[in-house]
Amino acid sequence: MARRAAPPLLFLLLAGSLLLATPALAADGTIVFTTLGRSRYAFDIFALPIVPLSSSSSSRAAEVRLSDGASVNYNGNFAPSSDSLLFVSERNGSLNLYISPVAPSASDPGSRREALEVSGSPPPSPLLPLDPIALKDRPSLTPDGEHLVYVSTAEPTDAPRRSWAAVYSTHLPSGSTRRLTPRGVADLSPAVSPSGEWTAAVSPGPDGWGGEVEDLHTDIYVFRTSDGSRRTRLILEGGWPTWADESTLFFHRRDSDGWYGVYRAKVSFTDDGGVSAASVERITPPGFHAFTPAASPGAPGLVAVATRRPGSDYRHIEVIDVSTGGANACFEVTRPVTPRVHHFNPFISPDGARVGYHRCRGSGNGDSPLLLENIKSPSPDTFSLFRIDGSYPSFSHDGKKIAFVGLPGLFVVNSDGSGGRRQIFSGNAFPTAWDWKRKGVIYTSIGPDFASERTEVDIVAVTLGEDGEDSNISIKKLTLDGHNNAFPSPSPDGKWVVFRSGRSGHKNLYIMDAEDGEAGGIQRLTEGPWSDTMCNWSPDGEWIAFASDRHNPGGGSFAIYMIHPNGTGLRRVVHSADGGRTNHPWFSPDSKSLVFTSDYAAVSAEPISNPHHYQPYGEIFTVNIDGSGIRRLTHNSFEDGTPSWTPYYRKPEDVGETLQASGTCAFEDCHWLNIVDAKADGIMCGRHR
Ligand SMILES: *[C@@H]1O[C@H](CO)[C@@H](O)[C@H](O)[C@H]1NC(C)=O
Ligand SMILES: *[C@@H]1O[C@H](CO)[C@@H](O)[C@H](O)[C@H]1NC(C)=O
Ligand SMILES: *[C@@H]1O[C@H](CO)[C@@H](O)[C@H](O)[C@H]1NC(C)=O
Repeated sequence: MARRAAPPLLFLLLAGSLLLATPALAADGTIVFTTLGRSRYAFDIFALPIVPLSSSSSSRAAEVRLSDGASVNYNGNFAPSSDSLLFVSERNGSLNLYISPVAPSASDPGSRREALEVSGSPPPSPLLPLDPIALKDRPSLTPDGEHLVYVSTAEPTDAPRRSWAAVYSTHLPSGSTRRLTPRGVADLSPAVSPSGEWTAAVSPGPDGWGGEVEDLHTDIYVFRTSDGSRRTRLILEGGWPTWADESTLFFHRRDSDGWYGVYRAKVSFTDDGGVSAASVERITPPGFHAFTPAASPGAPGLVAVATRRPGSDYRHIEVIDVSTGGANACFEVTRPVTPRVHHFNPFISPDGARVGYHRCRGSGNGDSPLLLENIKSPSPDTFSLFRIDGSYPSFSHDGKKIAFVGLPGLFVVNSDGSGGRRQIFSGNAFPTAWDWKRKGVIYTSIGPDFASERTEVDIVAVTLGEDGEDSNISIKKLTLDGHNNAFPSPSPDGKWVVFRSGRSGHKNLYIMDAEDGEAGGIQRLTEGPWSDTMCNWSPDGEWIAFASDRHNPGGGSFAIYMIHPNGTGLRRVVHSADGGRTNHPWFSPDSKSLVFTSDYAAVSAEPISNPHHYQPYGEIFTVNIDGSGIRRLTHNSFEDGTPSWTPYYRKPEDVGETLQASGTCAFEDCHWLNIVDAKADGIMCGRHR
């Protein structure tokens, strides 16, 4: 090793004070969590001319990509002049709104493509500051281009299970921002009218959000864009409004026949301040789903929609001609061009020339998932926050490795991106927890998840080889009773493992010997006709945190509880209101707080406007163990879950991986749009006009 010159004294002093400061930082460490599927897809915004196309190469050449291929880019909209694209992007670790120039429509699709896709075009500009960290969504500009109207989750609500999403308006020249949604109320999916005077948005109504995902049961409100005044409930049951002109709104609704359909409402404004809707009329027939409509004064009589039709597994953009009275006609936009891809959330340019949407940028341009994607932390100096492409991630106690669960299988990888990715076990396993004393020992359970008490799930200790790199892996079964034993978490002294077991007919917590398993001794910790599960032992050894439905057994609602390992001190820490779901607690390195996943902030977007997320309300929070100081860490419309916390502080920067998985774009569309029984004949758009 080369000898280095002695550092100057001042440097030593500084380094000394930095070293002293390090333990305080490390006390808070790093939180890593998963976002269901998100690392596997990356969207960009594209556009096609609003004309019927055929499946020819000239049609394919007519598609232009409007966003720049970095990060995930979605929910586009055109600026009033049609010359700029507004969109949402998660680049730089938080959601923000961006603007980038769009070349004017030209008659020749080829030249347009070239103009739009020139390399070296300036990167999109953020429209809002990155702080506060919040979801920002559904951007629109007023016709003067000065006011940006959008959804943000920047302000907490004062009660659990209430959405933080609200509509704001930012005056771009001055940066001054005004909340248009009343406090205590949530608004989603805003749309600014062509004049800019009115904004329509949807709101969950006075009873708030009751856990709905497939059909939010929102109502449509209108209010003045300038200050939120004259707020009026216009339509009961509806979502995703869009203005065709100053007095015509389209929206979607799930009808009693089970199909999502698009509706038209005439809006009238009276001089005395009244606003009302008349002639609410369904414009798409049953037999297929049509949703997320988009209209524009530049394309009179046309509404772009996303559809799911019998016989097609893909979400496509179609244009419905509503000008022809009862005989509605339609033409397909995306299927002839990109048939085997999902397309989301259309928008029409104000000049009526183009329809935009987002879709996977495709395997050819797909990103390889990062090992750790940095997500902006609310206190970046004390703890950093990362998304990993896998579930149940946990760091080894030296911080060098991460174990996680793939779909399926148990994996280990070096945490610094230097590779070392290995599949340790190929069957279904969950979760992961490292022994505190014996290096390279990971506890997990093997068997089906979400299974009954009597289903066999076994807790095992996996021992990696000496340096964790060789292939000498041993797996030792620790539970013997053949029932549902899962969620092992070891005690910091290395002697015990707490886990949940269904051996009594109910899922309760037990403690067993860490090395010899239940053969070496087992003791029951909790008892009752309910489910105690997802346990985590505190690093100071004093507490076991767990999720339980004991407040309403079998009711589907879980809250977080804590108990001493000797069975005393039981208490509830966090409960997300009646029916709320709060799960997967994990202690902070100092044992004074917990990170967990919860529906505490309800949904932040209409779930139908996203790929499928089982629990789109899942966000990551922390709380002090006395139940005070709930803090939201993630702000998005995806399913975030299974967090863990390590004292090892990793700098808030993306970590790539030398051994890359393939970058293909893969996700499922919303399951409730899958069509099982309907006949596939007779209702393909464009074939029966
Ligand atoms: C933000 O993200 C973009 C795109 O991923 C990247 O090029 C840029 O360097 C990032 N900026 C900062 C300040 O990290
Ligand atoms: C593999 O592991 C077992 C049990 O841990 C040990 O007895 C054996 O010596 C190891 N073999 C090699 C080749 O390292
Ligand atoms: C149980 O454990 C807690 C925490 O270690 C301790 O404070 C308490 O005294 C113990 N109670 C009994 C009855 O041992």
